[in-house]
Amino acid sequence: MSPTITASLEAQGTREMSTSKSYLAMAYWCENQNWNGFAKLFHLQAAEEQTHARKFFHFIVDRGAMPKIGGVGAPRSEFANLSEVAKAAYDMERANTASIHAAFETAQCEKDFATQVFLHDFIAEQVEEEAWTDTLVGKVRQAVCAGALFNLDRHAVKEILGEAAD
Ligand SMILES: [Fe+2]
Ligand SMILES: [Fe+2]
Repeated sequence: MSPTITASLEAQGTREMSTSKSYLAMAYWCENQNWNGFAKLFHLQAAEEQTHARKFFHFIVDRGAMPKIGGVGAPRSEFANLSEVAKAAYDMERANTASIHAAFETAQCEKDFATQVFLHDFIAEQVEEEAWTDTLVGKVRQAVCAGALFNLDRHAVKEILGEAAD
């Protein structure tokens, strides 16, 4: 595997770790604010992103290289309200999509077919990630009264992740 591809996959693996940490911070913010349903949703996402990170590093090992895990800074942990949390998740997933697409483009330039196929799952995954974060922003916006938000919190995983939670 070319050093360019290795570096690109290491960067993406590290980004997935950073995303995991950000979701963890969102989960604890929600717990602290007594939004336990939303907290559960973000804990699930944190675990999922951790799995993504491992897949990237494992793929590098499978291709005969030693993955270098990058540093991950402190995630954002302060939010004014749930809408800000939702928007942060929304933006983060869109940035991640751009990053995965860039990795795919690199694999195309390098004619690395195995990496292209490996990235297919992540390209498809990002469609789901963008969909649920869009739902999250929309539903939080629609919950204009406290009762609606309490109800959304109670069923957050089902209402927002839907089939993606299965
Ligand atoms: Fe991910
Ligand atoms: Fe994600």
